[in-house]
Amino acid sequence: MESVIRKCVFPVAGYGTRFLPATKAMAKEILPILDKPLVQYGVEEALEAGMSDIGFVTGRGKRAIEDHFDINYELEDQIAGTGKEAALAGIRELIERCTFSYTRQIVMRGLGDAILKARTLVGDQPFGVVLADDLCFGNGTGVLAQMARLYAEHRVSIVAIEEVPREDTSSYGVIAGEPLGNGLYRVTDMVEKPRPEEAPSNLAIIGRYILTPDIFGILEHTPPGRNGELQITDALREQARQGRVLAYRFDGLRFDCGSVPGYVAATNYCFERFHRAAR
Ligand code: UTP
Repeated sequence: MESVIRKCVFPVAGYGTRFLPATKAMAKEILPILDKPLVQYGVEEALEAGMSDIGFVTGRGKRAIEDHFDINYELEDQIAGTGKEAALAGIRELIERCTFSYTRQIVMRGLGDAILKARTLVGDQPFGVVLADDLCFGNGTGVLAQMARLYAEHRVSIVAIEEVPREDTSSYGVIAGEPLGNGLYRVTDMVEKPRPEEAPSNLAIIGRYILTPDIFGILEHTPPGRNGELQITDALREQARQGRVLAYRFDGLRFDCGSVPGYVAATNYCFERFHRAAR
């Protein structure tokens, strides 16, 4: 697919406290759904959207992500010429078609801070952001590819949204917006993790973004917000005030794999869709 966006940032520095103890020594993005790590699904989705320059914002204890997007000579030598090689075809293709860059977030000061750390990897271009623990399956076209198409038309920041039950708004950034049709909203305001009675809607931001590069300058001057963390929502609100943020109710499914119930639901869904269907 022809895309004006080449870069995609994966912030993977978070502690993943909702998945302890599994995430004590291991990144949650390495957790597998069936036999594939979450982060690989995310990179596949980015590549489908034309984004082949992948930038990770990592932290301590995340080495397995770098190793996953590299060759494992001993293992690959061992299985060379056997039927087991087929299992590595997908990851080998990603390694061939993408470039991978890494930078570290030294202190985990929030998603906004993690994105700001990607500035030197991104430069002065629009870019995608994938939170790989949100596993997305678009209908026909991947969610990020749907958003890249919209970006080509509108050239403003875009956040993916989903309707959530009112009582769940305090787990998300929530938007207020004017509907433009076809699932698209012009964002007028956004609030990070509002209580249900304070939420401007039940339209919650999920882990897919397309951001224009002026977001970095805004992030630099954004004070810490909820939980003392630098929130991407607060920086986006600045762009929204200028009418430069769209929210898109994507066509597809999303699983919150950073939580045990979401992870189990994703595993069951993928087992039915990919594993059982293949037999
Ligand atoms: P989450 O809100 O899911 O936080 O972060 P978390 O630490 O990963 O998980 P829990 O809530 O403790 O279980 C959303 C995304 O932002 C990244 C995370 O890696 C995740 O992809 N993130 C968050 C960072 O990279 N750095 C941070 O300082 C915070």
